Amino acid sequence: MATATRHTTGTEITTTPVGGRIGAVIDGVRLGGDLDPAAVTAVRDALLAHKVVFFRGQHHLDEESHEAFARLLGTPVAHPTVPSADGRYALGIDSHHGARANQWHTDVTFVPAYPAFSILRAVTIPPYGGDTLWANTATAYAHLAEPLRALADSLRAVHSNDYDYAALKPDALPEALAQYREVFTSTRFRTEHPVVRVHPETGERTLLLGNFVQRLQGLTGRDSRALLDLFQAHIELPENTVRWQWQPGDVAIWDNRATQHYGVDDSGDHERTLRRVTVDGDVPVGTDGRHSVLLSPETVPAPSFGIPSGASAAPEAEAAPEAEAEPAAATA
Ligand SMILES: [Fe+2]
Repeated sequence: MATATRHTTGTEITTTPVGGRIGAVIDGVRLGGDLDPAAVTAVRDALLAHKVVFFRGQHHLDEESHEAFARLLGTPVAHPTVPSADGRYALGIDSHHGARANQWHTDVTFVPAYPAFSILRAVTIPPYGGDTLWANTATAYAHLAEPLRALADSLRAVHSNDYDYAALKPDALPEALAQYREVFTSTRFRTEHPVVRVHPETGERTLLLGNFVQRLQGLTGRDSRALLDLFQAHIELPENTVRWQWQPGDVAIWDNRATQHYGVDDSGDHERTLRRVTVDGDVPVGTDGRHSVLLSPETVPAPSFGIPSGASAAPEAEAAPEAEAEPAAATA
């Protein structure tokens, strides 16, 4: 059912859910740095409620106005390792360069204060395919049986940007893989997060996993993999997901603290170009009050422009039990 909010300029903002648990289309908003405060509040409220919101027809946006709009939601941050497309904050998501995001993940979870929001703008869309799926990690947690929720609450996981790209993309050209890997992992991060984080704005508990996870702390590799598969299967349940078929001019904004997403790699060699601007997040807190901890390197290095994602002031690091590193399963 659509919900309408009238805002100060007199236009009506309509929010229409796409799925029962996640996703809504917002009409009546022209995104940009000049969006009035009432409309920003309406967008933010819908975003927190529906986890991902979609806008059609935002053809007027360019790198500058995309970034200017992002500033209305928070502080834009650069990717910790991948250079931007515009020398500032716009990350290129380009089918012709690097790995595709066809693995379930939450953006940049290999650093502690990973982005709160990602704003993705379609530039060139292939004639078919190239959809993106999002999953609601709050409803995934809420629908777990109670013993599984208790188990998840007690676990912590190590996330890293260093993984076996060749295992993920067996048919990719070795040179392309090597080049992407070199850039993406120019700094190798390892961060320990709680498996369940308490959302700083909604208070909801969300599952914090995805394919930057290397292993669960304190478990054998086999037990770790079995439990990760179990929880991840609940996140990916179709009931927890929404699928978006892109058109040029579309914008999707998601709450990166309450979702995972997956870019479907089914448009062959057709060009698919999107731009992403991320907004700084805060350091996650588990249900036991323990924060996430950067295990390595000692600090998040500064990118070539601005502040890096995850560089928000972290609380004093709590002692984290070090687990032995084990080769990662396929992650992206
Ligand atoms: Fe992503």
